[in-house]
Amino acid sequence: MEIVKINRLSKIYNGKVNYRALTDIDLTIKQGEFVGIMGPSGSGKTTLLNLISTIDQPTSGEIFINGKNPNGLKKNDLAKFRRQEFGLVFQDFNLLDTLTIGENIILPLTLDRRSNKEMDEKLATIAEKLGITHILNKRTYEVSGGQKQRAAFARATIHSPSLLLADEPTGNLDSKSSRSVMEMMETINQTDHTTMLLVTHDPLAASYCHRIVFIKDGQLYNEIYRGENRQAFFQEIIDTLSFLGGNAHELSSISVE
Ligand SMILES: Nc1ncnc2c1ncn2[C@@H]1O[C@H](COP(=O)(O)OP(=O)(O)OP(=O)(O)O)[C@@H](O)[C@H]1O
Ligand SMILES: [Mg+2]
Repeated sequence: MEIVKINRLSKIYNGKVNYRALTDIDLTIKQGEFVGIMGPSGSGKTTLLNLISTIDQPTSGEIFINGKNPNGLKKNDLAKFRRQEFGLVFQDFNLLDTLTIGENIILPLTLDRRSNKEMDEKLATIAEKLGITHILNKRTYEVSGGQKQRAAFARATIHSPSLLLADEPTGNLDSKSSRSVMEMMETINQTDHTTMLLVTHDPLAASYCHRIVFIKDGQLYNEIYRGENRQAFFQEIIDTLSFLGGNAHELSSISVE
């Protein structure tokens, strides 16, 4: 089954000068796939994510999520559609400092008026799975960046969304925390078969994906699939990035294991 189906998607930002950010993007993502989006800064990655998550509207083209076209939904229905279908994770965690980690995680369920019992059960299950049970009563400023990002993933997946969208989730993390967040994404993908879309500049983070789609100047440039060997995939990602040019990567000596 297709969770995302994008046909000839284009986006022009209107301003003093109009800017064409995406041109004729076609992309299909199947149920359970873990797809990475890479490309130089300004190539249109965040724009694409914002269009898929309905935060922004396309100039032309169509997007179907789970067979449904959210374009044209009324404001309230769109808000509900967004809450049900998507889980969103960003570089800067977006947790509320006034709430505990646990309260942050159950926020999407609170908005949908679920019972306390259901919320407590779901919270306990997801916290256990993501290894954050011991920090549920802490405040955001009492935990590490990696723990905050785990909490953000817990919040983004507690309602079992059709699609998890993550824009540079490891961008503010050191390499050890990045790796552990990527291992967590892999676990979520494998255990829940959650379909995931990850935007990243980091070839190591990208090497956890099943497929990488490269964007250049708002157009699809290339896509590569991971085989059995993550080290080989990692190398292939670096090679593609160096063809792409721009500052899509900082070539480094890091290796996978
Ligand atoms: N709201 C906006 N209005 C006008 N132009 C915009 C807007 N948002 C983005 N752009 C432009 O569209 C292009 C694509 O931006 P986008 O944020 O999608 O890039 P990106 O690939 O996510 O880059 P980065 O890797 O730096 O996050 C850029 O040239 C950017 O300046
Ligand atoms: Mg971006």
